[in-house]
Amino acid sequence: MISKAQVIQPFLPATLTPGEQAEAFAPSNIALCKYWGKRDKELNLPINASLSVSLAHLGSRTRITPALDGADHVLLNGTELAVDSSFARKVIAFVGLFRGTLAQPLIIDTHNNIPTAAGLASSASGFAALMLALDQFYGLQLAPEQLSAFARMGSGSASRSIFSGFVEWQMGNREDGMDSHAVQLPATWPELRIGLVKVATGEKKVDSRAGMQRTVETAHLYQSWPLQAAADLTRLHDAIVEQNFELLGATAEQNALSMHATMIASWPPLLYWQPESVAAMQQVWALREQGVPVYFTMDAGPNLKLLFTAEHEAVLSAAFPDLEVVAPFGQP
Ligand code: PMV
Repeated sequence: MISKAQVIQPFLPATLTPGEQAEAFAPSNIALCKYWGKRDKELNLPINASLSVSLAHLGSRTRITPALDGADHVLLNGTELAVDSSFARKVIAFVGLFRGTLAQPLIIDTHNNIPTAAGLASSASGFAALMLALDQFYGLQLAPEQLSAFARMGSGSASRSIFSGFVEWQMGNREDGMDSHAVQLPATWPELRIGLVKVATGEKKVDSRAGMQRTVETAHLYQSWPLQAAADLTRLHDAIVEQNFELLGATAEQNALSMHATMIASWPPLLYWQPESVAAMQQVWALREQGVPVYFTMDAGPNLKLLFTAEHEAVLSAAFPDLEVVAPFGQP
C-alpha cells in the first residue's frame, strides 16, 4: 500500500518557504450520486465515481499563521480544541503531510458558516479549505486536480469541495490515486434549490469511514452498489445537460436510498435514520403525490436534503417550517 506522504512528496518543493499567513474558503457539497466504499483506505480511493453540487457560500474558511509558542493550535469556530481531540489530530496529521521536516508549529483556525442547526457534515469543506490554505501558505502552486487529489486524503468528499457548482469525482484507477480527483462540470442551474431538513445534530455513533468499511465487508447487497452508482452517474449527467429536474431528483433520491439499503444490510446493521427521518421522507412522497416536484437525498446521518426548484420554495418552506434553503448557483 502506498502512503499519503509517498504520493505527496514528489509534488513538494525541495525547500518550503512558508508565508506569513494564508486564508482560504471552500464550499460544503451534497452528493447526488454518493461515494460509498473505498478500494484503498490509506488514500481514500473510492470504489465508485460520485457527483455533487457545492453549496456556494456555505462552507469553511481556514486561516493558517505561524505559532510563536512552539506548539500547534487548532481552533474551530473561535474555540481552541485540545490537540488530542479527534478533529485536531486529523488536522495536525494532514498538515504534517505538507510541512515535512520544517516542522514549523502553526495556528490553524477554521470557521464553518454552515448553519450549525442544519446537521451538515463539515469535513468536506474543512479539508478542502485546509488544503487550499496550505497551498497558499507554502506557495506550493498545485494544480486544481492535485489540490483535489490531496484534499481527498483528508476526507474523500473533500476532493469535490475544491470546486463550485456541479462536480464529479472521477474514481481513477492508478495505484497512487493521482487520477482520482474531482472536476467541475461546465453547467449551471440557477433555479436549483437545496433545502436542509434538520432531524438531529451531534456526533453520530458510526462515522462514514467506519460505516463504509462495515458495509463493504459485511453487506452482500453492496455488490450491486457500483453498478447502481455508475448508472445513476450517467442519468445525472443527462439530467444536468437537459436541465431535467425530475430526472435529477429521482436519480438522486434512488441513489441515496440504494446506498442506505446497503448500510441497513450490513452486520451489525447500520441505520442512520430516526423516526423523524422516515416521517420527513413520507412527507416528501405525499407532496410529490400532490404534484409538488420535490425529492430528497441523505448522507450518513438522519437529516434530509431536499431538492427542488425556486418556484416551489414557498410551498416547501410552509411544509417544513425550519427549512434552510440554499441556492447553489446564486443567492435566492
Ligand atoms: O468524505 P467522507 O469520508 O466523510 O464520506 C462521505 C460519504 C457520504 O457523505 C455518505 C457520501 C458522499 O459522497 O458525500
